[in-house]
Amino acid sequence: MLEVRDLRFSIGETAVPKHWHGGGRAVSIFFDGLSIFFPAGERFFVASVRAHAQYASADLKEEVLRFAAQEGIHGREHDGYNAHLQAHGYPVDRLEPQVHRLLRRAQKRLPRRRQLAITCALEHFTGMMALLLLGDPRNLEGAHPAMQRLWQWHAAEESEHKTVPFDVFRAAGGTEFERLFMMVVTTLFFWAKIAQHQCVLMHADGCLFSAREWWRLFRFLFISPGGMRTIARTWLSYFKPGFHPRDLDDGALLEEWKRSYAQSFAHG
Ligand SMILES: [Fe+2]
Ligand SMILES: [Fe+2]
Repeated sequence: MLEVRDLRFSIGETAVPKHWHGGGRAVSIFFDGLSIFFPAGERFFVASVRAHAQYASADLKEEVLRFAAQEGIHGREHDGYNAHLQAHGYPVDRLEPQVHRLLRRAQKRLPRRRQLAITCALEHFTGMMALLLLGDPRNLEGAHPAMQRLWQWHAAEESEHKTVPFDVFRAAGGTEFERLFMMVVTTLFFWAKIAQHQCVLMHADGCLFSAREWWRLFRFLFISPGGMRTIARTWLSYFKPGFHPRDLDDGALLEEWKRSYAQSFAHG
């Protein structure tokens, strides 16, 4: 059974600097842009999974409840994170409603099972966070400790619950065509949104035209630590016939995080 950890990171109340990542401004902003996506995104995930819960077995239904609880807590903590971004002068109040409107449009226009296929696709992306953020410490090198803990916790729980939407999708009769087609569509929208967030936030930060910052981001994503290489490989694995999220090789990373969680979070 999934564990629901009601953790509070109080990002807004902690002295987290505006550029909190050791990789510099554009790299901090890359994570910040993802954070802006999360609260509305996670509500969408939960709604799409809940809408199909009637097809799930009793055990899976229980996991759906726990999945929803985990995502709800992620949303709450990213709301706090995003309020912190707003306080630093980033136009979160403009970007968040745009994410919300995009997902509302998907809810209005797409058949429900396609919405669940979008969730499966995005959960594959968030599942990759565990491979990156728990698997290679360079991805959070020099980060403020509160941010490090928040991102690692979120990555770990994404790894932990990644099979739930997928199993519900299967139980609801989701087809391979729907799953793969929606992955392609979702990938295009997702990266377009992340690129937009990157540009808007860099503009607000006054570094949109900084070749140095763009180079540091490029180096971080593609060269060292080069997480985009892992992302590309893992993204492609979704297209293997019969793919299941448990195929992702992140079990040992999750266990290691749970051990460190038991030592540090649980005891204060
Ligand atoms: Fe989440
Ligand atoms: Fe998730």
